[in-house]
Amino acid sequence: MPKGTFHSVGSGIAGWSRRRFLTASATSAAAPLVARTLRAEAVDTQRTPARNPRDPANLTLDVNGRTHRLALDARTTLLDALREHLGLTGAKKGCDHGQCGACTVRVDGRRVLSCLTLALAAEGRAIATIEGLAKPDGTLHPMQQAFIDQDAFQCGYCTPGQILSAVSCVEEGHAGNAAEIREYMSGNLCRCAAYPNIVAAVQQAKGSIKEG
Ligand code: FES
Ligand code: FES
Repeated sequence: MPKGTFHSVGSGIAGWSRRRFLTASATSAAAPLVARTLRAEAVDTQRTPARNPRDPANLTLDVNGRTHRLALDARTTLLDALREHLGLTGAKKGCDHGQCGACTVRVDGRRVLSCLTLALAAEGRAIATIEGLAKPDGTLHPMQQAFIDQDAFQCGYCTPGQILSAVSCVEEGHAGNAAEIREYMSGNLCRCAAYPNIVAAVQQAKGSIKEG
């Protein structure tokens, strides 16, 4: 900036010193800000205090046809609600990051990753876990029977998620051929690498499940 610029601006306004000019400018610029702040404070005092996010939220979960009333931290995942609060440990916690499919359950007939779903988001919807798949008399679902018949598991850790995903695979019409099944089931990892047997199980059960 050229030397003397400030001086020439200050002295160019008749009767105003540079100090008075800057003081007046700053005051008038700040006035709306002060007014806004005062208004904000006035509004704040009228607000009710924010709820503590740690306070439990009351919710109702419909799981396998049974209604459960719970009081949970609003941040609880559906997976933790099932496992830790309802004792339904069929859905497994593998990665807890949506990467492995071990936590797969079905909500309103669609598979979901329960580790990425808030329990609150599942309220009022029909949740199905592996515990509710067999008939009350113990008769296995065709997909469960097919997994046994085709030897489609070893350690079994991924199996509940695999079976629920496989049911959706057929019901949603993605079991046309082995490649289609592999593609649909690709989000369900199996560390025992039972993949060929899982595909065979889906193909076996397909004839007994209504396709969408
Ligand atoms: Fe949910 Fe792995 S535990 S995807
Ligand atoms: Fe062991 Fe799939 S059967 S991880």
